[in-house]
Amino acid sequence: MEKALAYAGTHFDDFVAQLQDLLRIPSISTDPDYRDEVRRAAGWLADHLETIGMAHTEVLDTAGHPVVYAEHVVDPARPTVLVYGHYDVQPPDPLALWTSPPFEPVIRDGVIYARGACDDKGQLFMHLKAAEAYLATGEGPPVNLKFLLEGEEESGSEHLPGFIEAHHERLAADIVLISDTDLFGPGIPSITYGLRGLAYLEVTLTGPNRDLHSGMYGGAVENPINALCRLIAGLHDADHRVTIPGFYDNVVPLTEEERATFRALPFDEQAWAKEVGLPATKTEKGYSVLEAISARPTLDVNGIWGGYTGKGAKTVLPAQAHAKISMRLVPDQRPEEIAEKARAYFEANCPPTMKLSFRYLHGGPGVLVDTHSPAMQAAARALKEVFGRDPFFIRSGGSIPVVSVFKKRLGLDSVLMGFGLTSDAIHSPNEHFGLDRFRQGIESIIRFQTHYARTR
Ligand code: BES
Ligand code: ZN
Repeated sequence: MEKALAYAGTHFDDFVAQLQDLLRIPSISTDPDYRDEVRRAAGWLADHLETIGMAHTEVLDTAGHPVVYAEHVVDPARPTVLVYGHYDVQPPDPLALWTSPPFEPVIRDGVIYARGACDDKGQLFMHLKAAEAYLATGEGPPVNLKFLLEGEEESGSEHLPGFIEAHHERLAADIVLISDTDLFGPGIPSITYGLRGLAYLEVTLTGPNRDLHSGMYGGAVENPINALCRLIAGLHDADHRVTIPGFYDNVVPLTEEERATFRALPFDEQAWAKEVGLPATKTEKGYSVLEAISARPTLDVNGIWGGYTGKGAKTVLPAQAHAKISMRLVPDQRPEEIAEKARAYFEANCPPTMKLSFRYLHGGPGVLVDTHSPAMQAAARALKEVFGRDPFFIRSGGSIPVVSVFKKRLGLDSVLMGFGLTSDAIHSPNEHFGLDRFRQGIESIIRFQTHYARTR
């Protein structure tokens, strides 16, 4: 391990330069115009995995974006780590708010700025560099390594469950290792043991067959935008609880022990609100901010449109109103069932003056993973050595849809050892990743491999 650590230290500048090359590829999975770029990123990664000496690497097609798969089996008797990451990124919009262009990575004050710098190219690349450090120094990785790098995470991992089903034999492993989550705070080592799930909907109300003159028709035509606003407003009560009947049915309640753990975390609600410019927070009644953003289910409108939104005034009574709605779920809510309950709410409350169209776009369940496994202990030890203190075990409000599939189809728990910070602006303009964390991540992964190998 010492040789690998030394190699990572002396080659760090090369690692950063290589990451910049990867970040230059605009692999935006949700936008069909970028299909070829997504594939180019897959090819780049496959070439890189070959260059660092992985025994077997290939790009595998799916009905969507390709999967990059690589493996290096050192000894079947050793434990096998399946590394998961995603090489696709979110769209960079709004472009005008970026200080430097999203796909022209630059380093300012030890921080690398680009779309994907943290989520997840910067973090998945740490795993390639940790593997390289072992491969290049001749001792070889202490564990068997498999890489599963997908290009559809940011659009819901639609084709990955099918891929895992088709390739489950070669994906056999002892544990999944993922760096696609956050530290609890700067310098605070953290292991995420819970992720929220998701159910994503699109709702359209259609009234008249075309946009109408609001003077000639207004008064006798119910306005779809007004109606949609009313339906949406009815989705929460005064306690900020979701009103969809049955929404909370299967929610696993927080235990008193878990709530005490939340209270013990060094969290400053006021500073948290200030960082995002909020005058006040709003949580489901009876829950702290930390509980509400990671361990309770939510419903949020992601976008709403219809009618005239251009410059100046246009007196129009719109034919249609649209909304995109996401619900973050916790164990044991089932995404399809929650989506059906939402559909029932909209159907029951849609006025007779208009037509409802309801689409369930994608979803996945929330997860909680075992914190006492040997892999977790190996991760905790690695982080302690790098950060000089014991890690916190945290739950995150974000979603990584495939984690529940790893459990269900492959029987594998995931160790979520991420190095992002909430302030890294993932999905926002000026996404960035501190090079200090890039370095700590690589070192933690190198150490994890050695400690985990010793558990056998
Ligand atoms: N890396 C994030 C998830 C994340 C961020 C987890 C921070 C924990 C802390 C991931 O790439 C992501 O954004 N996922 C999407 C999934 C969705 C599109 C299905 C999400 O959570 O919105
Ligand atoms: Zn991510």
